[in-house]
Amino acid sequence: MDRVSTSMLLAAAAVRQARSDSDPAVARNAALARACLQGCGRPGARLLCAVDHALGRVLLAALETLYLPGIGAHYAWRKRRIRRWALQACGDGARQLLVLGAGFDGLSLFLLERIPGLRAFEIERESTVAIKREALCWLGVREPRLSLIAADLSVVAIEALLPGIPRFDPRQPTLVVAEGVLMYLEPPELQRLLRGLARTLPGAGLIATAMAPAAAGTPGFARQRPWVRRWLKRAGEPFRWAQTRDALAATLAAASVRLERIADPDEAADPDPCPGEWLFAGEFARPPR
Ligand SMILES: C[S@@+](CC[C@H](N)C(=O)[O-])C[C@H]1O[C@@H](n2cnc3c(N)ncnc32)[C@H](O)[C@@H]1O
Repeated sequence: MDRVSTSMLLAAAAVRQARSDSDPAVARNAALARACLQGCGRPGARLLCAVDHALGRVLLAALETLYLPGIGAHYAWRKRRIRRWALQACGDGARQLLVLGAGFDGLSLFLLERIPGLRAFEIERESTVAIKREALCWLGVREPRLSLIAADLSVVAIEALLPGIPRFDPRQPTLVVAEGVLMYLEPPELQRLLRGLARTLPGAGLIATAMAPAAAGTPGFARQRPWVRRWLKRAGEPFRWAQTRDALAATLAAASVRLERIADPDEAADPDPCPGEWLFAGEFARPPR
């Protein structure tokens, strides 16, 4: 990879977080993130070098303040909740996990370690899948219950893809996780993807995130500086849609998803350090009887 991507930034944030967070899940996630960054060529090596040195960390903190204050802590905030909600969904019977745009994240491994009999499937862009496969190999992780599938979610016909994946069983109770990915799809692509999932996996659970409108109604975080939008565009990862809290349910309903809950960014005990991205859970519609 020849430039820094959002998945690399998340991986660097995961490595950085593990320096101050003693949660074993955070440490495991950081080990995978580190191995992935090592496979990301010069941009990955530079990010790792910065995270591993005091001066580099000062520079990263300054860049965060300059671009988007609190974003590293926001990632940790949303990942804590996603781990908790996903564990709960598995406790409620999910036997299959489908992670869309998984990047270099270790949620699948976290759940596979804790839920006997669970199978996990990740759908990601080919270049990212190749790096993650190599990283898992390098870490000595041989997990036969994890499958990485290369596909572009903006064009793939998900109804055709899923039944053809070895060991994927559309009849199994399934949890779909789409963390930090749906905002990169054009609205018609989003609708096609979610409706395709609803047709293939009726009744499956969904944990996902979506952007809220920031200044001037454009998708983004509340404290995002104007140059973040330009950086995302140059990186080829612009946010393509946003929704207000009140309108999110209608957008999802049009795509055959029933919204059940939205994480409260103002939760007194643990507020979102960088608001502007909704974390929500829902269920794919069941066909009418
Ligand atoms: C911001 S990263 C989030 C990674 C991970 N879900 C996390 O939160 O740690 C966005 C990820 O979505 C993936 N992605 C974006 N558009 C995609 C598409 N059209 N098809 C497949 N993956 C996509 C990117 O490759 C990237 O890994």
